[in-house]
Amino acid sequence: MPAIAFLECVRCQHQLSADTPQTLCPLCSGSLYVRYDMDQLKRTARREDITARAAASPASLGMWRYSSVLPDVTPVTLGEGWTPMLHSKRYPGLYVKEEGANPTGSFKARGLGLAVTMARHYGLQHLAVPSAGNAAGALAAYCAAAGISAHIFMPQDVPFANYLEGVLYGADVTMVDGLISDCARMVGENIKAQREANTPASQVWFDVSTLKEPFRVEGKKTLGYELVEQLGWTYPDAVFYPTGGGVGLIGMWKAFEEMEQLGWVEKGSKRPKMYALQAAGCAPIVKAYDQHQPVSEFFQNASTFAAGLRVPKPYGDAIILDILEKSGGKALASTDEVILASILDWARHEGIFLSPEGAAATAAYDQLLAAGELKPTDKVVLFNTGAGLKYTDMTAEAMHLRRPTALPTSMPVGGIITPQ
Ligand SMILES: Cc1ncc(COP(=O)(O)O)c(C=O)c1O
Ligand SMILES: [Zn+2]
Repeated sequence: MPAIAFLECVRCQHQLSADTPQTLCPLCSGSLYVRYDMDQLKRTARREDITARAAASPASLGMWRYSSVLPDVTPVTLGEGWTPMLHSKRYPGLYVKEEGANPTGSFKARGLGLAVTMARHYGLQHLAVPSAGNAAGALAAYCAAAGISAHIFMPQDVPFANYLEGVLYGADVTMVDGLISDCARMVGENIKAQREANTPASQVWFDVSTLKEPFRVEGKKTLGYELVEQLGWTYPDAVFYPTGGGVGLIGMWKAFEEMEQLGWVEKGSKRPKMYALQAAGCAPIVKAYDQHQPVSEFFQNASTFAAGLRVPKPYGDAIILDILEKSGGKALASTDEVILASILDWARHEGIFLSPEGAAATAAYDQLLAAGELKPTDKVVLFNTGAGLKYTDMTAEAMHLRRPTALPTSMPVGGIITPQ
């Protein structure tokens, strides 16, 4: 495992030490990336060693199979990562990366697994997060595993599973009458009030909001390493990523950059086109992409049952839009009706229960096939970012499906013999 050389601001390249916990760039509030000594890594980190290490380990290493490109710390792990890459039964070039197989049923386990790992390394005792739902569940679980207190703020209408897991794992849960943007404001206000009240440093919450600390991106970068390894160390033609805050997309792009520097992918390989998929009811990235804007505007009245995509103004919007442009990909939105139809289509034809977020990606895939912009043979990795089973309440509601309230009268009632 390599030592972190420094943290680097994505906007102004200012460098900071990782010896103490950091949030944003002190000069320009840009997000911070973890940087290693790549010359040294080129000599020590070999991709052949990954499979050997994983084979030698009695337990699954999960995303820690990439420990040679992750910070040198003792992991807090629940077995996150190394998720199945499922080959579609209908489209020869399409692979679904099943992130619902992660602990807490979503890909958020990767970023928060590493963020909590680093928090324990730094001795932090209180972590806080505004969440669209799944980040809250993941933070609660990893904090429970690490013996750290989790403080969670999420919209009151998140999937019930997210509320349940927060409470179940013993987190301090606040349900907010508002959106994730309101939750973020409340986290900030709480921390400010704690500082003003001269709360002892060990009791002040540390904010692990999307892109406001360096390690969630660093954990999510394993998505990129993993998909490339699972495709025999080659890039696909395209990656389809349901985008809320965009952490996974940003993390994967960082992974591609590192893999090229390390020579883990063949020199001159063309990086995949990156597609950011959203729901029509909350599509700030699609709007900015369509209007050729470098940043997004706050998306008013955000509403969709794809709860994880309900992020009206992603903090990393400029980075996401830059990646879409550089990769030659695009941003695309689908309505909730089309997303629901795609959930049913995939359940019935492929046996896969997509999350609404994952189905925003499959719906966009269909749209691009129909438009002739994509062929079924194009090699595409599409992320089902969460397990469909986490959304039984929302998906059933969208389907107008209710549990039958009375037994059908035609069924015989056991043990009672009724006279003719
Ligand atoms: C299932 C699911 N998919 C996608 C997203 C969006 O993730 P990101 O913030 O990395 O864009 C979320 C965020 O909550 C989510 O829970
Ligand atoms: Zn900066």
